[in-house]
Amino acid sequence: MQSLRYAHLALRPQSVMPEAAAGRPLAGWRLDQSGGSDGGGASAGERGRVGETYHRPIMGEEVVHFLKPQPGKLILDGTLGGGGHTEMFLKNGAQVLATDRDPAALARARERLEDVYGEQFSALHANFADFPAVMEAAGVVRGLDGIFLDLGVSSRQLENPARGFSFQREGRLDMRFDPDADVSAEDIVNTWSEEDLRRLLHVYGDEPAAKRIAHAIVVRRASRAILMTTDLAGIVASVVPQRGRTHPATRTFQALRLEVNQELPSLERALQAVPRWLNPGGRLVVLTFHSLEDRIVKHFLRDHSAATLDRPEWSGPRPNPRHCFQLIVRKALVASEAETAANPRARSCKLRVAERNSNVLHSST
Ligand SMILES: C[S@@+](CC[C@H](N)C(=O)[O-])C[C@H]1O[C@@H](n2cnc3c(N)ncnc32)[C@H](O)[C@@H]1O
Repeated sequence: MQSLRYAHLALRPQSVMPEAAAGRPLAGWRLDQSGGSDGGGASAGERGRVGETYHRPIMGEEVVHFLKPQPGKLILDGTLGGGGHTEMFLKNGAQVLATDRDPAALARARERLEDVYGEQFSALHANFADFPAVMEAAGVVRGLDGIFLDLGVSSRQLENPARGFSFQREGRLDMRFDPDADVSAEDIVNTWSEEDLRRLLHVYGDEPAAKRIAHAIVVRRASRAILMTTDLAGIVASVVPQRGRTHPATRTFQALRLEVNQELPSLERALQAVPRWLNPGGRLVVLTFHSLEDRIVKHFLRDHSAATLDRPEWSGPRPNPRHCFQLIVRKALVASEAETAANPRARSCKLRVAERNSNVLHSST
């Protein structure tokens, strides 16, 4: 088994957030009504992405409202992509330090934004999980006033057959955000054991037919390597009947992408560093498109926003040494109906936001 570290997530019971006392929707904005935020399983995947003609960043208005970009503020955009959100922050006068693992995305965003915004904007090729080192490399000697993550794959990446993210477009099974990364989807599909593949599809894809698909992959690759997106999609479709509008390979592709890019470990690593780098009053805003991502963010914020902890064996509540956030919305916000109608990708988006308080953290926390 390679690095499937999140097996426990599939078994973890859903946590119940206190009801929306602090989750009052802001004028006209929508709370997640899915009965907890862990529903779903399959991401927006292929259904939701739209063409490059759609330029409005997802939940852009809400993101700007919560992050409050303005002159004098420094915001980290960990997922620069096409630079849509970053551009909104820049327009509002904030300074932006951005990262992306995809050099092509960085090059395009730089070309578009550098001339216009000059020193207000800098972008580096990095995993956002390494943002403290990025700040050092960029010579940033102050804390951040905002940290923003818009997780997952961009429509441009998805729509480029050569990147191998889409089962609808024939291309090499790649799926790496960073083309220099060691492991591609092709490596996993052609080298992992049947049991490891089954676990991957079960844990990261929540795929009920994981066993059947893993077996079909192993049988097929014994005669011929599986190299193309459409080959893999065909293998999955041969053992999983299509139900509804979702392609049977949606969950398989999602699981592979998460593993290839180590998306959940990166998210967890980044979150661990956030409390130390966010100034008091600074905000963390995260857009997730997948139930496992959202669960990580939700649990992190819950663990870091409780003032006290209590256990049956204790005589009473004790201060929580990790208390460093105040939840700004207790339940996730979702995109407006108008936005989801215009951009189906926004359908599976959840926005969470929390504000750093002034508590000093000790290194053991
Ligand atoms: C959904 S897109 C971001 C779109 C962007 N907010 C916009 O408005 O155009 C996500 C981007 O994050 C990048 N990405 C995903 N995981 C990353 C990671 N761990 N570190 C850095 N970049 C990452 C992807 O390469 C992709 O370009």
